[in-house]
Amino acid sequence: MRDRRILVRAPAKINLVLRVGPLRPDGFHALASLFQAVSLFDTVSITPAVDISVTVSGAQADQVPTDGSNLAVKAAMLLADTAGVSSGARIHITKGIPVAGGMAGGSADAAAALVGCDALWRTGFARNELSELAAELGSDVPFSLVGGTAIGTGRGEQLSPTLTRGTLNWVLALPAGALSTPAVFREFDRLAADRDAPQPEVAPAIISALRTGDLAGIAAGLANDLQEPAIRMQPDLAETLRRGLDDGAMAAIVSGSGPTVAFLQDSPDRDLPSVKSASVRGLMHCHGPVPGARLVEPVFGPG
Ligand code: C5P
Repeated sequence: MRDRRILVRAPAKINLVLRVGPLRPDGFHALASLFQAVSLFDTVSITPAVDISVTVSGAQADQVPTDGSNLAVKAAMLLADTAGVSSGARIHITKGIPVAGGMAGGSADAAAALVGCDALWRTGFARNELSELAAELGSDVPFSLVGGTAIGTGRGEQLSPTLTRGTLNWVLALPAGALSTPAVFREFDRLAADRDAPQPEVAPAIISALRTGDLAGIAAGLANDLQEPAIRMQPDLAETLRRGLDDGAMAAIVSGSGPTVAFLQDSPDRDLPSVKSASVRGLMHCHGPVPGARLVEPVFGPG
């Protein structure tokens, strides 16, 4: 039993659409988000232990906290409390998703920890029960659990899946620096102070373009209300977006609160040479949609 190990893989997300509405009394904004899970993954290994702890390796691992503020630790603790489990878990995260890049890397780890600890402790929670816990952990965590393509409303946590035809090819550029999500929302509020914030919605045109696989329609429908505040806070993002379009990308958009920039491509092989020369970590090619947090390989030791 001592050698039991659970392996879970959880994807990054891109917001194809992110419409931000009024600030709610609870401090969150009403959102309408069109999420897509893409093929960049964090891998989370979970083994039995007395306490709950986390270690991190992989790209930018030094920027991920390993104390109680780590979202995977919070997820494990929440599941243990809710299920009345007294066992612990040693969690190891191998980062493949850019840290603080607007791609829900921390949410992916939380979703993976929920799925993995549920398997390790045999708590047997249904997916909708895990989703409720996920929503307590963060607005994007429920989507990291389900993956695919989905519309998120409320503060982003109320999901309805969206039909898609075919695969979308993305290139991601990670410019220097990190943007804090609350800070980008605050900048949004500052810029929006004189405007009326309407109730946000995802335009029907991009939903039908996704359903029919109309790439030009999808490209035309990409929209992010956090892009302008993200550019105000990190002006070089405007140049990255422009370079990608000059290189022939079908569309360019800041992902979530940034600073990752996502380019929609008409082929998986096409490169973006002038973005590459300016991008700190080079370019990452990926595709979507892909499934949410999933057990990869439950490994049972001899004990
Ligand atoms: O839910 P999550 O912990 O990911 O949110 C991080 C921060 O982003 C929140 O504390 C809030 O400042 C901002 N946020 C928001 N409205 C949302 C989601 C997030 O203002 N719908």
